[in-house]
Amino acid sequence: MLVSGTGSNLQAIIAAIHSGQLLLDLVAVVSDRANAPALGHAHRNGVPTFVLEPRAFPNRTAWESALCELLDDCHPDLIALAGFMRILGPDTVGRFARRLLNIHPSLLPRYPGLHPHRRALEQGDPEHGATVHLVTPEVDAGPRLARIRVPVRPSDTEEALIERTKRAEHRLYPAVLTELARGHLVVTPDAVFWNGVRLESPLEFPFS
Ligand code: GRF
Repeated sequence: MLVSGTGSNLQAIIAAIHSGQLLLDLVAVVSDRANAPALGHAHRNGVPTFVLEPRAFPNRTAWESALCELLDDCHPDLIALAGFMRILGPDTVGRFARRLLNIHPSLLPRYPGLHPHRRALEQGDPEHGATVHLVTPEVDAGPRLARIRVPVRPSDTEEALIERTKRAEHRLYPAVLTELARGHLVVTPDAVFWNGVRLESPLEFPFS
């Protein structure tokens, strides 16, 4: 997994692996920030961690090739981004095409980028949510695999909506990874298939 922050999605994924729901090995957690709390969660759960801070490299290209080398060494079937605050360039995205996933806290294509919850509240949206999508060079714009809807309450502050959406993310990400690991969800160069049927719109997971 690639992380930069608190790692609550990482924790949800680790919990799903421990419970036997998610049949994947988490082989490595990579962060661009040495002080990311996510690293501590990985460490406590025996997952190897790696830090690649951009300032340790002469330029962005050098940082990104080090990241690619590290990922290659891990031979990952999937690379899940959760709160990873770096944009990956076209070479990296191309090299790991169809294996790079990200979770974004909005019902994409609404509100890509920063402050999606705030923007949903400003627009008076009756619902918000989170989306798992494939990573492409354009931020939060890759093919959408699945999403979960979250109600917006009239009294919601941004913090309250972030919190409720996070809880939904913690259901969604492990569930999508489970579908991929079981081979129910299949990503090909041209399309995404779920149980053999071409996916025309993202899978919907219920919020509870
Ligand atoms: C999540 O809201 C995720 O959707 C977004 O960044 C946040 C990461 O949170 N891309 P955490 O580090 O998993 O707690």
